[in-house]
Amino acid sequence: MKLPSSTATDLNKKGMKHLVSTQDLSKKELEEMMELMAMLKKARRDDSVPHLFKDKSVAMIFEAGSTRTRVSFETAATLLGGHALFLSPRDIHLGGKESIDDTARVLSRMCDIIMARTNGPETIDALIKMSTVPVINALDTRYHPTQILADFLTIKEHMPEGKKFEDMTMAFMGDATDVCRSLMLSCTRFGMSFKQIGPKKYHMEEEWVKIAEENCLESGATLEITDDVSRVSECDIIYGDSFYWSTQLDEKEERLAAFMPDYVITTELMKKARSGALLLHCLPANDKEEVTRDALESDYSVAFDEAENRLTAQMAILVYFTNPYRITPTQETLDYHKNRIEDFLKSI
Ligand code: CP
Repeated sequence: MKLPSSTATDLNKKGMKHLVSTQDLSKKELEEMMELMAMLKKARRDDSVPHLFKDKSVAMIFEAGSTRTRVSFETAATLLGGHALFLSPRDIHLGGKESIDDTARVLSRMCDIIMARTNGPETIDALIKMSTVPVINALDTRYHPTQILADFLTIKEHMPEGKKFEDMTMAFMGDATDVCRSLMLSCTRFGMSFKQIGPKKYHMEEEWVKIAEENCLESGATLEITDDVSRVSECDIIYGDSFYWSTQLDEKEERLAAFMPDYVITTELMKKARSGALLLHCLPANDKEEVTRDALESDYSVAFDEAENRLTAQMAILVYFTNPYRITPTQETLDYHKNRIEDFLKSI
């Protein structure tokens, strides 16, 4: 008798989607994620998160360190009635005694979804090649999609009433990081105009600029890559990130000399932005480098709301991507989630 391999693999024969970049999601899908996040955030506020990940588990591979991503995914799985497994290269055979291909096959037979933070794109690409469950990129040096969903939820919660994403412009201060790249692609997808403001040497690579320009043609957003700090005067959101990643410590002095003091987010720089401009930062922040402590602690800073929203975003990701029959949620799908939440609220 041949037994089915696993619930997870059977389910996913029906179809599945990975999340490598927000570019994998259409504008409509991004908007659906926004709605799902809003519903799950309300449910958490009411202490009534429905168990939409019940009896499921997420394998969390961490090649690199993390506070927010690890804690938010682990807490999200628990809140939704499921389980998270923290797997660092010290805990499993990843890429050493066992290939990433075989690791993906084994994890797929036991877990319902895999998320990975890696020191390069190779691990994510190899996981996707062999995984029979969805793979979520939790930062691979190219993209950081799970961060960006939390960022847009935060912007939506704090933007002036009556304003739309299409009415706003974001400035990313600094290097063409994974966060910068993902923001550029998502802003231009949503119709929000985007500027990367930093020294020429660290400007976004042409191949990604081309993709964002194509998004602009569809959405009506504008895109500017510039070294001119005065361009913040046209911006409603000023976004900060570290001037160097943990694998770039050998470039630290050179990078700091290029970015400081011109591209540091200070209270003076915020005054030059549009009235009511918000300060976002993906954190961790270095308040002696890319942002000052007084700017980070000011009323216009929403960096810690943004960090909290990582939890909401991870809940939505776990629900959305382990629901293979509803790869592209329709209004019916959203109503399904809404009704589950409402039913659950009525039952307590
Ligand atoms: N912003 C972010 O990804 O934080 P962690 O590195 O702490 O996960």
